[in-house]
Amino acid sequence: MARSILTIDDLSNEEIEAIFELADDFLTELGTPGRPYRIQGRKDVAGQFILSTLFFEPSTRTRFSFESAMLRLGGNILSSANPTSTSASKGESLADTVRVIENYADLIVIRHPREGAARVASEYTDIPVINAGDGGHEHPTQTLCDLYTLRRENKSLKDLNVLLCGDLKHGRTIHSLVYALARFGARIMPLAGKGLDLPEHVRNRLKREYGCIPRELPSNGFPVDVVYQTPEKDHQLALIPDVDLDLRMKFAKPLGSIDVCYVTRLQVERMGDEASKKDYPIVDRQFLNEHRYKHSSVLHPLPRVDELGYDMDADSRGVYFKQASYGVPVRMALLAALMKLYPNIVTAQNRERPYPIYTSVDGIRCGNNQCITNDPQEKRYLKPKFWIVDETALLRCTYCEHELHPQAVGSTSAKKFDTNLGRWATIDAGHLVFFEREVDAHRGGFQPYKGKPKQTAGTPVHR
Ligand code: NCD
Repeated sequence: MARSILTIDDLSNEEIEAIFELADDFLTELGTPGRPYRIQGRKDVAGQFILSTLFFEPSTRTRFSFESAMLRLGGNILSSANPTSTSASKGESLADTVRVIENYADLIVIRHPREGAARVASEYTDIPVINAGDGGHEHPTQTLCDLYTLRRENKSLKDLNVLLCGDLKHGRTIHSLVYALARFGARIMPLAGKGLDLPEHVRNRLKREYGCIPRELPSNGFPVDVVYQTPEKDHQLALIPDVDLDLRMKFAKPLGSIDVCYVTRLQVERMGDEASKKDYPIVDRQFLNEHRYKHSSVLHPLPRVDELGYDMDADSRGVYFKQASYGVPVRMALLAALMKLYPNIVTAQNRERPYPIYTSVDGIRCGNNQCITNDPQEKRYLKPKFWIVDETALLRCTYCEHELHPQAVGSTSAKKFDTNLGRWATIDAGHLVFFEREVDAHRGGFQPYKGKPKQTAGTPVHR
């Protein structure tokens, strides 16, 4: 399988640094005089390559900057900007679409309304797939642009105070960004609109993989509802228990200045009737009047609607148009790396997650309605797949990364089940089955195990 970029975790910190160094080189070589964030002209290095941009959702910056990047590398593009322009609108599956396109192009950039769509695409093709936004899940290349902008603004991520404003629940740019910030050791301060906090599975993962816990601190008249404390260890955020405010204030590193204010719009297209701008933070010069914002950089993935004041355009703290412009050198570097035009930028292999995989055979499904595995057009051929992320058999969908707690685990060979989920590690992977509810095990003709699970001799079956 070719190297694909489906989530920000598909790139190591070292690979991200290498991509940024290459983007710097492109800007040095092809930068516009007086506008050091803009590429002009082109290089002739990718003449034999074709990039296909397959967009099932609207886009301005992401698609155009990918296409501009490919053209500026001297490569070629095949573009589908409109969901009705492909056979998907006739009922063709995503798997079939990419199996066809891989014969016409050398890389695919895909944007899709379903969470996990890019991973599905990557499983049905041998050419690299880049996720340009899959529903409310992730948007890893936007995060590259965000981090690169901070680098160009001379902001080192380590120990940076980053305020995240707006729709943290549905914003895919936010989800990729928080994992990256956590990995690089920045401090994250969510300032969510009402009911638009970081999703539970994102918080769980930040806690599980980076050791952070939500903290409340008052600020600005808005309820800053979560603060991640910084790391004891270099690359991790520290876990602080939810204790009373005095104690928290004692342990908390003072907020000090906010280095970055990252603003996002309300993702109305991912919401039903509940979409409302009530209690939604608006970032403008008045908001940023406090001393702590004096040296903030204000970023926004764009498009903006009402959440970012136009009065910020003339304010030197607003760097969002440069951020959009950096999309070209950053995507040039990523494309060049995946086309192997420059050695040693990214490794040949995809990064594996450290968890065993469970493929659902007997009906357990991802509980997220927006997951690609629940799409009527795609579920005909897709088997739900989960990472088993802990000893209690917490399952994480490999596509949308929502989490699921099954009620029972069983063995298809013994036709036995147990509600003690810890038994999963003793069952042979080929016979392992999880049940969403205990009653499903009974209905399937499974009998309860008697006695405690026996420890298997030697190495555990799954790890
Ligand atoms: C973002 C997206 O599509 O997720 N835009 C972008 O890619 N620059 C943010 C948004 O649409 O709000």
